[in-house]
Amino acid sequence: MSRNAKYFSRNIVSHKPYLPGIQPADEEEVIKLNTNENPYPPSPHVKDAVLAELESLRLYPNPPSGQLRKALSDLHGLNQDQVIIGNGSDDILNLCTRCFADASLSVGMLEPSYSLYEVIASLQGAALHRIPFADDSFSIDPQAVIDSGANLFFITSPHAPSGREYDQNCLRRVVESFDGIVVIDEAYADFATQNAIGLLDEFHNLIITRTLSKSYSLAGMRVGYGLGSPELVSVLDEAREVYNVDRLAQAGAWAALTDRAYFKSTCAKITEEREKMRSLLREWSWKTCPSGANFLFTLPVDSHGRTGQEVAVNLYEYLASRKILTRHFPRHELTSSYLRISIGNSRDMDILIERLIEWKTPEQP
Ligand SMILES: Cc1ncc(COP(=O)(O)O)c(C=O)c1O
Repeated sequence: MSRNAKYFSRNIVSHKPYLPGIQPADEEEVIKLNTNENPYPPSPHVKDAVLAELESLRLYPNPPSGQLRKALSDLHGLNQDQVIIGNGSDDILNLCTRCFADASLSVGMLEPSYSLYEVIASLQGAALHRIPFADDSFSIDPQAVIDSGANLFFITSPHAPSGREYDQNCLRRVVESFDGIVVIDEAYADFATQNAIGLLDEFHNLIITRTLSKSYSLAGMRVGYGLGSPELVSVLDEAREVYNVDRLAQAGAWAALTDRAYFKSTCAKITEEREKMRSLLREWSWKTCPSGANFLFTLPVDSHGRTGQEVAVNLYEYLASRKILTRHFPRHELTSSYLRISIGNSRDMDILIERLIEWKTPEQP
């Protein structure tokens, strides 16, 4: 049947879907530094847990993912009724728009940020307020967020794609005066020095989302979670697809979460590689934001000393033709001259550095 918009919801007719970074076919040998995946495998306990769980696949999974809620409430020092588990943190972000946005309740986001926020607002038929950053270092103007008129506001912290961290005082200023619900998307917080979890005790209009895709190396398994007041969590829970996290994912995620030593050692390796790479980029005078995430956002300078969108695209293509994938965000002036590069293992980073040096070195006459 051909697409006939006559039968489609008004929200879907004008909808523009989310465009993920390139996911090459498995057999293609690339160094994949474009979607902030973890370069290390998940904890070895994950495989054992998933294999053992195969025995039980004829049965539906535990609807609230109870064991995971318990592990996460213990980890963060919260009560179990303050935790909700999702099929990736995208599932929780989606639930937030389902519950707190509609044609009369608008959504706000800082522009540029994770572009999924505008996609899920549009699916919900909600108007979107795009609030600019206060400067080109991605500083937040709390008053601009407070005055946005949105009912639901998404803040990415650490910010993507810059990696910038925001301290609790800045976030407190927003949450305490915002007349609506603030979602702080902490997808990358495990690589950062600070987070907003301490604010959950103070404010009941706050939801924090986290993911196991990055720091626990489980992007392919799809597990994320939300933290908030029991009141907000129970609303999200009522809208949640009842079996949203399958048995293999619940078992694997629990095994990953409870292997703290492995988690700490892989996060430490990634942050160490990140800092090594950042000092090199600074030596080259490539402007690079301090990052609390598993990626760096850098302004490439070519062999003629030039920067700008064309230079960034040139490097992006140069690396892609040498099978290194990175991410370029052409749609906004704060991002179009930069590349975002995920942190790989030390071998990936060594190859990346070799290619960057080739690219930036002037050709011999
Ligand atoms: C800022 C941000 N939030 C959320 C997500 C989604 O994570 P998940 O894999 O848990 O759906 C991503 C993924 O890249 C992200 O960059």
